[in-house]
Amino acid sequence: MPRGPVIVRTIKTLDRTIGGYRDAGETLALVPTMGALHAGHLALVRRARRRADRVAVSIFVNPTQFAPTEDFASYPRSFDADIAALRREEVDLVWAPPRDVMYPQGFATSVHVKGPAIVDLEDRFRPHFFGGVATVVAKLFAQCRPDFAVFGEKDYQQLKTITRMAADLDLKVRIIGVPTVREKDGLALSSRNVYLSESERAAAPVLYRTLKESAARIAAREPIARVMSEGWLAIEAAGFAVDYYEARHAETLQRVETVDDGPLRLLVAARLGKTRLIDNIEGSVRTTGAGPGRRPRVLRFARKVSSAE
Ligand code: PAF
Repeated sequence: MPRGPVIVRTIKTLDRTIGGYRDAGETLALVPTMGALHAGHLALVRRARRRADRVAVSIFVNPTQFAPTEDFASYPRSFDADIAALRREEVDLVWAPPRDVMYPQGFATSVHVKGPAIVDLEDRFRPHFFGGVATVVAKLFAQCRPDFAVFGEKDYQQLKTITRMAADLDLKVRIIGVPTVREKDGLALSSRNVYLSESERAAAPVLYRTLKESAARIAAREPIARVMSEGWLAIEAAGFAVDYYEARHAETLQRVETVDDGPLRLLVAARLGKTRLIDNIEGSVRTTGAGPGRRPRVLRFARKVSSAE
């Protein structure tokens, strides 16, 4: 049985431990989390393990990304089980700062993000969220100085926002996005799935099912507006209150009108009882028009704004 990971709670010990890796010429990948780890997080850890000599996982339930009305106090916390799972993955270091280490008395700085953070998706319903995420992730990068940082595609707008921030602030960390891990019936893994009642859990896979149907119809060149409004209704019919159900440009997250405006990403947020679920999938990859000697149209968008994989 592996012995690690070393659990670090002070900046001094963090500096000493990471300094040791650096002195040995080792690379470091960081997986930022809020704990309550599931198989989706472990997929991030495995990707990190493939990219770097050392893997650090941060566990910090970040108060600044929750609105006062949200579930900060009740957010699932399972530190001992998380550590056991990370030990099995042979993670080297867990960075678990107490709140006053992350936000000491007098803390007065925050990172203000725009671009993909203000596109009228999550930001419309959680206006505080990306400022809180960007601030804590910028701090995690400054504290751990990773070569790579790994995030799930499930929080797609978050992934794009962090990628933009890292590029804009020259943070010298390569952001890696990892595809969403799903239950057998398609429900995206999320720490908040534990909030679902039995009947809500049975209804929840409609999100992924509808996303897939919509992507197929868009790929078949049905009008995006019609496909998405019918998808919205299908999700509502399953008992959800829909916050948004949208097709957007996969990199900028700006609105699109036709499949030719792609590559596309389809994104949803919807509430089932007290639980708010988000999900997204790749929209149609626009390759029609490509023939012998012709470039797929998607190449028009090949200049990415990010270093995300
Ligand atoms: O995705 C999450 O778990 C959080 O938003 C993150 C990136 C760890 C920042 O608190």
